[in-house]
Amino acid sequence: MTIQIFAEPNKKEIMATTTATTPSTQRLPVATPSDVKNIELADLGKKRIEWANQSMKVLQSIRKDFIKNQPLKDIRIAACLHVTAETANLAITMRDGGADVALCASNPLSTQDDVAASLVRDYSIPVFAIKGEDNETYYSHIMAALDRKPHITMDDGADLVTTILTKRTDVLADIIGGTEETTTGVIRLRAMAQEGVLKYPIIAVNDADTKHLFDNRYGTGQSTIDGIIRSTNYLLSGSHFVVAGYGWCGRGLASRAKGQGADVIVTEINPTRALEAVMEGYRVMSMDEAAKIGDIFCTVTGNKNVIRREHFEAMRDGAIVCNSGHFNVEIDIPALDKLSSSKRTTRPFVEEYSLRDGRKINLLGEGRLINLAAAEGHPPSVMDMSFADQALSVEYLVKNHATLPKEVFPVPQDLDKRVAKLKLESMGIKIDRLTSDQEEYLASWSEGT
Ligand SMILES: NC(=O)c1ccc[n+]([C@@H]2O[C@H](COP(=O)([O-])OP(=O)(O)OC[C@H]3O[C@@H](n4cnc5c(N)ncnc54)[C@H](O)[C@@H]3O)[C@@H](O)[C@H]2O)c1
Repeated sequence: MTIQIFAEPNKKEIMATTTATTPSTQRLPVATPSDVKNIELADLGKKRIEWANQSMKVLQSIRKDFIKNQPLKDIRIAACLHVTAETANLAITMRDGGADVALCASNPLSTQDDVAASLVRDYSIPVFAIKGEDNETYYSHIMAALDRKPHITMDDGADLVTTILTKRTDVLADIIGGTEETTTGVIRLRAMAQEGVLKYPIIAVNDADTKHLFDNRYGTGQSTIDGIIRSTNYLLSGSHFVVAGYGWCGRGLASRAKGQGADVIVTEINPTRALEAVMEGYRVMSMDEAAKIGDIFCTVTGNKNVIRREHFEAMRDGAIVCNSGHFNVEIDIPALDKLSSSKRTTRPFVEEYSLRDGRKINLLGEGRLINLAAAEGHPPSVMDMSFADQALSVEYLVKNHATLPKEVFPVPQDLDKRVAKLKLESMGIKIDRLTSDQEEYLASWSEGT
């Protein structure tokens, strides 16, 4: 049941933030307008937020610094991110840095309803997100976050910026900058900048080394396998597992599927990436060929119609098809609909399509990112780095927005390196330093054979 929530006003201001190691609950003496599924799920959500926090040591250290220095004081932030326990810790960190944060979902199926409830009840953070919401509700939630007139937008897929440019130009006057979390969002934003329609500077958090090298590869790799197994209970060992797209996510997914004993087949359109996959020991072929062989197909390309009519026509009976790329356009679901005489839900997140020729094809999670639809998304220890990049990028925007061009630009290198250093420290790992003669050697050209 969907209900409009106004969090219980609490007259006492309790537990003002005192420690950075546990996310503080801070109930403000104001109602928190929100739209979440069920506020009574909050107890469970709070435990999940605290569990995730334990593995987010870099974000903890940033929170400690934010509490002390209040770099986001009086800054209003609209964040359109997957509403998960890890995102909750980012939102709390920014709130503790002085910001007024509102959260909406960046995908209709990725919200953890218990986490959303806890953010509203225990942390007074407005949330507009319900798992399984329809498209209309999804966009009404984006509108609700924008109604708070943000200074900063945080996107995962660029739906917030797109909505601002197409329907909510009224909020532009207050905005000083934004961040973008994922590859697909960065592509869309670069297209806006190219056309000259982007109205404020955006930091491409995805492009930080401490983001895509870890989150996209290890995070998507593990959690996508997790989503496939949770939804199907399928034995990967001995299966023919087709990975479409050998980018950062595809590399992670292919290596984890291989680790489970699957015969991994990669499809690509980029010759260099295809060659890399061959050298890693995978079979590489066209989707036309792979379609005849695969037991499980997973797209991670950021492109549309990667699996389409001719591929469904070639697939074997019982094939499993899913996506872990950002949007649900990678699999041509309307084509599958047209080929089918009926469909039924056989398990949560599994739809069995009966084709007119008698074969069955199973689509997972409505073609939406399966790691968030059927599992919990990336583990907190990897989101620790992505969200440390996010928090530091927001702080950077607040300090530097006046001099930044209306373009998409990378996370400054010193911030990226700081996150890597903090992560290593949190893992208790020490690394070498350049000696002075090494520094000199690397800066010179005179020494040779
Ligand atoms: N599920 C998640 O939690 C999650 C996390 C991070 C990124 N993403 C999303 O996953 C997608 C991929 O991200 P990435 O960082 O790996 O991007 P990437 O650019 O590194 O890789 C994408 C790869 O797909 C290939 N490709 C494009 N069209 C193709 C086609 N028709 N057939 C086969 N290959 C094709 C490209 O050549 C490229 O190598 C994006 O949509 C991104 O936003 C999802």
